[in-house]
Amino acid sequence: MKIILLGPPGAGKGTQAKQIADKFKIPHISTGDIFRKNIKEKTVLGIKAKDYIDKGKLVPDDLTVAIVKDRINRDDCKSGFLLDGFPRTVNQADSLNEVLKNMNSRINYVINIDVPRKSLIQRLTGRRVCKSCGASYHIKFNSPKKEGICDVCGGNLVQRDDDDLNTVINRLEVYDKQTAPLIDYYKKSDLLCTVDGDKDVDLVFKDICNTLEKCGR
Ligand code: AP5
Ligand code: MG
Ligand code: ZN
Repeated sequence: MKIILLGPPGAGKGTQAKQIADKFKIPHISTGDIFRKNIKEKTVLGIKAKDYIDKGKLVPDDLTVAIVKDRINRDDCKSGFLLDGFPRTVNQADSLNEVLKNMNSRINYVINIDVPRKSLIQRLTGRRVCKSCGASYHIKFNSPKKEGICDVCGGNLVQRDDDDLNTVINRLEVYDKQTAPLIDYYKKSDLLCTVDGDKDVDLVFKDICNTLEKCGR
């Protein structure tokens, strides 16, 4: 099963991706997570990507496509994968089609998580992530048992550098201009299923599972 999770920043892609990947036993591939890991480790890729991410802009397509191409060619992706935050431009989507065609493969589902703008801003500015294991929380909607401490590993919770209000606004503008056209793109290829993401995490997950069953590709 090869799935793309589409949706604006803060839609809950990462939150849902974790559960989908666990349930269907497929690798969760988040380009944002890959970039953040490289930034933390100060790799060449991380140094190149940091400037763009800090400003809320997209990392150039050539860099991003190369990473995904390399990742989905690994053995653990043979029976499927879940892409979270990729593709984000029409050019990336075309490149993905090309890469998959060369592997005699294709995408089975594109799940679009729809959330109103007001909720997105609240979710992003209130998000906290674990510095050690990357687990994600929200100060209001998904708070840890002990304030500032990760339930999973006891690490410290911090705000993502690009979750300040100004950068969030930039990211949402970039989404509207560069990523939202993918909704029509995948509608045309008859792959798109939209779920209402403005509900409790568990309800959204249920809807996604129902949608995957219903589409049954
Ligand atoms: P990336 O890391 O992909 O960020 P994003 O798309 O901006 O999305 P987020 O991770 O912010 O949100 P999410 O949808 O995963 O929501 P989450 O589950 O965390 O990308 C970061 C940057 O990397 C980009 O800006 C770009 O520069 C670069 N990049 C990445 N991919 C790229 C690409 N393909 N091309 C070029 N550049 C790329 O949830 C958010 C919050 O809401 C959390 O606090 C969570 O607890 C809460 N929440 C989740 N679900 C619910 C719910 N149902 N109800 C209430 N609260 C909820
Ligand atoms: Mg995410
Ligand atoms: Zn942790």
